Amino acid sequence: MIITSVRASKEYAVHTGSGLLASSGKIMREVCPKALKLLIVSETNVAKRYLAAVKDSAQAEGFEVYEYIFRAGESSKNIDSIAGMWGVMAKAGFTRTDLVAGLGGGVTTDMAGFAAASFLRGIDVVQIPTSLLAMVDAAVGGKTGIDLPEGKNQVGAFWQPSAVIEDTDCLLTLPDEVFAEGMGEVLKYAFIMDLSLYDILKENERTGINIKNDAWLMEKIVGMCVADKADVIMSDEFDNGRRQTLNFGHTVGHVIERNSDFTKPHGICVAKGMGIISDAAVAAGTLPSDEASKIKDLISSYGLPVEDEITAEEAVSGAMNDKKKRGNTLSVIVVNKIGSSEIVKMSPEEFLTFISGALG
Ligand code: GLY
Repeated sequence: MIITSVRASKEYAVHTGSGLLASSGKIMREVCPKALKLLIVSETNVAKRYLAAVKDSAQAEGFEVYEYIFRAGESSKNIDSIAGMWGVMAKAGFTRTDLVAGLGGGVTTDMAGFAAASFLRGIDVVQIPTSLLAMVDAAVGGKTGIDLPEGKNQVGAFWQPSAVIEDTDCLLTLPDEVFAEGMGEVLKYAFIMDLSLYDILKENERTGINIKNDAWLMEKIVGMCVADKADVIMSDEFDNGRRQTLNFGHTVGHVIERNSDFTKPHGICVAKGMGIISDAAVAAGTLPSDEASKIKDLISSYGLPVEDEITAEEAVSGAMNDKKKRGNTLSVIVVNKIGSSEIVKMSPEEFLTFISGALG
């Protein structure tokens, strides 16, 4: 097992390893010694597989367990679901020392975190991510929230968890396309900040091992991503600077995702965004073309796309509607060489010129 410490507005540990669901109750008890009641938030598919293990483990530690199970999918990520969670907690008489746990992928951990951040002005949450994407990104760092009809993640709060419990055995049951989606975020860390992760992913590509089934390797890879994210969070918890480098590929990726009415999965769109931004950086002369080829080759070798039919004009107008925009300026994340990235501020006109280098 790997334990990564995150020291932000709250200090907590991310536990990554095999078989951890069975000790989830013990970890929750350690971080919330006074809690009497626990609300487990999960979705239909995940609950079928994993709810019983977490519930049993929590009950063995004396928690009175409540459940809120929503229909799997992004369309559930709304205020009605949050109101449902508030309702369960209010009826059961939760107090400020009680606890919420988010068991599932990013939709679940975002909503469980937001319900905890807002109920009684804030109670503890423990995140128990079961997808690769949630383990390496969504569950760590305290971004919580819901979607509005106008856009994704438009309402939310920064609310750090009290612990994150990542049982890597859950990765074994992920459908291949869901696993590949998570790999989009794993690759992102390699490109923006972690050359040794790039080397491991490259070596695996050469040997052709199916990493999804290699428990030892997956624990190591997830642990490296969590350490990278922790490092970023500890230097910029509230997303005013360095944390924005985690958005590599997202500026264009989000536009592709929105234009598909969210039918294209997030990780697939981010992979396309990373490929497109890399091409644009080559055209702008800030990324050597052999580095861009290495980036795109590695993305492709993990079964992800690097291109899209989006036009430069669509990319600019979509990016200008993104919530990540500040004022009239876009923060575009560019990789200068593998393992190193920077934030470049661009006006809409500058972004059009830049992105036309790839999509023109
Ligand atoms: N998912 C990007 C972040 O946590 O900032």
